Amino acid sequence: MKKIITTLLLTYTILQAHIDDKVLYAFEAKCMSCHDTYKKNDKAPPLVAVNQVYLRLADGNFSKAMERMKTFLTKPTKEKTLMKPAVKLFGVMPNLELNSTEVEDFSQVLVETEFEIPDWFDGHYKSHELNKTE
Ligand code: HEC
Repeated sequence: MKKIITTLLLTYTILQAHIDDKVLYAFEAKCMSCHDTYKKNDKAPPLVAVNQVYLRLADGNFSKAMERMKTFLTKPTKEKTLMKPAVKLFGVMPNLELNSTEVEDFSQVLVETEFEIPDWFDGHYKSHELNKTE
């Protein structure tokens, strides 16, 4: 676990300097059990995919991506999801009962972290037609 956080802290460019280590540790504890950083797994889409889908669907507009993600995390429902193929594979993400500070902080981590785009991502993205919201 420590290793992943170290990776988050060192390898990724955290664009916003005000995301502090405490938030990253909390994010790791609450989110990383299902969401791997890069690897496709059988629980949930990897963080890089969530990040890319939100930024692309908001045309790279950070505040739009933040708003969509906050709305989803406050109370996940099928209607609010952007990642329809993931919903088909895994079902809608459970409601983790996050408080508003957590919602804000974790959205920031996911939206504002600059992830390296792995080679498989573009093909995967196209195969899932993730650019379609419905
Ligand atoms: C119990 C497993 C689990 C945990 C823990 C979990 N997630 Fe998820 N998450 C999922 C699954 C499954 C999906 C894909 C289905 C969906 O989109 O709802 C998902 C999708 C998402 C999405 C994309 C939603 C969409 O479709 O638009 C976001 C954003 C997200 N998770 C954020 C988080 C954050 C932040 C945390 C930590 C607070 C977290 N997740 C913890 C299972 C989990």
